[in-house]
Parts: sequence; structure tokens; C-alpha cells
Amino acid sequence: MHPLRSLILAAAGNDVIRRLVATAPVSRDVVRRFVAGETTADAIEVTKSLVDKGLTVTLDYLGEDTTDSGLAEQTVQAYLELLDGLRRDGLARSAEVSVKLSAVGQALDEGLAIENAARICARAQECGTTVTLDMEDHTTTDSTLRVLAQLRASWPWVGAVVQAYLRRTEEDCSRLATEGSRVRLCKGAYAEPAQVAFPDPHDVDRSYVRCANALLRGEGFPMFATHDPSLVEIVEARAEVLDRKPGSFEFQMLYGIRPDEQLRLAGLGHTVRVYVPYGVQWYGYLMRRLAERPANTAFFLRALVSR
Ligand code: FDA
Repeated sequence: MHPLRSLILAAAGNDVIRRLVATAPVSRDVVRRFVAGETTADAIEVTKSLVDKGLTVTLDYLGEDTTDSGLAEQTVQAYLELLDGLRRDGLARSAEVSVKLSAVGQALDEGLAIENAARICARAQECGTTVTLDMEDHTTTDSTLRVLAQLRASWPWVGAVVQAYLRRTEEDCSRLATEGSRVRLCKGAYAEPAQVAFPDPHDVDRSYVRCANALLRGEGFPMFATHDPSLVEIVEARAEVLDRKPGSFEFQMLYGIRPDEQLRLAGLGHTVRVYVPYGVQWYGYLMRRLAERPANTAFFLRALVSR
């Protein structure tokens, strides 16, 4: 892993740095480049503007690693309010939600996470939309896939996420590529040990291609989450060879990253889903985005010192 990436990811877990950054007079614009805002209304406004441009959306109420059942409950309530808002504003066909199980109690008790995620799924069903379970660090992978299987028994449309940097993922893709199975393939965003993850970015890219092939050959609905121009090109080429028509898979990108590319792909007839985070707990999310790209860090630091 790039030393700067390791440093920023380490900083993301450091309480002193967290307090420093969170209380620094960071310009609203800097955070707003990657985060829709702090409230449900902000999230819905950004969703509307993206949908108006022909994009689809998945919304993430920011928060993770909750060890407090009260906070887990607040997260559930935030999702329920959001889902009701999407239905009210006629956006539920174009926008779904992404949920981190650690934000709804996974670290406290897997049963609590299932119960809470099930409440979100039930409301999503009522509102006419879907839920995808984000994937977090490798210590949670088995638990998240267990919870996924339980939820899919009632709501077969619950989406899974797999991370190409994990050595296990190609096998997971083959297992998950069943009929109707929505699977998001991403590179992976956490600092992981070499025993479980490929340390060399080229190996991660190669794994991404193998996993993409497994998903495209399977019966499910693959969701290719990447901003990497070479991977987007490879996925398009493989989809054509494997006779996957636009509409039988989709591309996904993060809010604020390569917006022109999002529109270009949508213009070609692809479904493009933008992952839109919102909420007050933006710190961990922002640090992962900064870790991915030195240019993002420079942008952030410039905005901090130019105040
Ligand atoms: P990478 O970061 O290697 O970037 C590749 C190339 O993309 C760059 O070289 C550049 O050309 C281009 N690029 C990247 N950022 C750019 C920018 N700001 N401007 C212009 N070009 C840029 N992770 C996880 O662990 N669990 C999860 O559940 C999810 N969920 C998720 C959903 C969605 C919709 C996305 C897009 C991503 C995730 N991720 C995730 C994050 C993912 O694992 C990964 O960390 C980021 O997507 C970055 O990886 P890329 O594939 O974009 O490649």
C-alpha cells in the first residue's frame, strides 16, 4: 500500500487527529465535494439533482463502528425517514440505500444488526426500493455475508458488496453470482494485512478483472463500482463479449468523483448509480476518499490553509 494511503488511513482511526480535523474550520465546500450534507433534506435535494441528470443513486447515512445500541437505533430511524422521503418525492424508483452493518449494531451483536437491517429492508420494500449492504474490513466479511443470506430469505433483492483486494473474493463472486443476486464489486477501501489482501495494486486490478468476469458470466446483476478508467473499459468490453446488454449490469461511482465520466456512461445507455453519503459523521468517509488519491489530499489541505 502507498505510504501516504497507510498514513491517512491510520490517521482516520486516531482520536486526536479526528478531533483536530472535525473541529477545524473546514470549508463547507470541501466536505460538500464528497458529502451531500448533514440532513435528510440535503440528501434528497442532491438525489433529485442527480436523477434529473439521468443518473441513479444509492444513499449512505454516514456512521460506522457503533458500539452503542442507542446510536444504532438513531441510524435505523435516519434510514426510515430517508426512505419515506424518497417515496414522498417520487424518487424511490431511482434511489436506493446502502447500509453499513457496523452502524446498526454488528459489533454489539449480529442478531441486533439483522433485526435493524431487516427493519430498513421492510421499509424499503414498502417504499418500492432496495438496500445494499456495504462491506467493511475483513474481520466482518463472514458476518456480513451471513446477515446477507438471512435478509435475502425475505428480500431477495438485498445487494452484496465484494472487495477485489481480498484474496477470497473471486470465490465469493462465483458463489454470489446466482439469479437475481445484486453484487457490487469494488477494489476495497480499508487497510488490510497481506495475509488476506493483495498488497500490490496491480494484483488488486487483476483480481477485479477476474471477479468481473465471474459476475458477468453468472446469473446475477453485477454492479461495477470503480472510477478506474482501465477497469471501466475492460468491463464494457467483457460485457459485450459475454452478451450482457446495458440494463443487465450497472456502473457505480462516488458522489463528487469523475462526475463527467458518470454522465458519459449514462449517455451511452448504461445505468450509472452514484453513491451519495450524507450525515454528520462524515470524518471516516472523507479520510478514506483522501487516502485514495494524493490530489484529493492536496485539495483538502489547500482549502484548510486558504481560510
Ligand atoms: P482507484 O482509487 O485505484 O482509482 C483509479 C483511478 O480512478 C485513478 O488512477 C484515476 O484515474 C481515477 N480516479 C480516482 N479518483 C479520482 C478523482 N477524484 N478524480 C478523477 N479521477 C479519479 N469500498 C469498500 O471497502 N466497501 C464498500 O462497500 C464500498 N462501496 C463503494 C461503493 C461505490 C459506489 C464506490 C464507487 C466505491 C465503493 N467503495 C467501497 C470504495 C472502493 O473500494 C474504492 O476504495 C474506491 O472506489 C476507489 O477505487 P477505484 O476503483 O475508484 O480505483
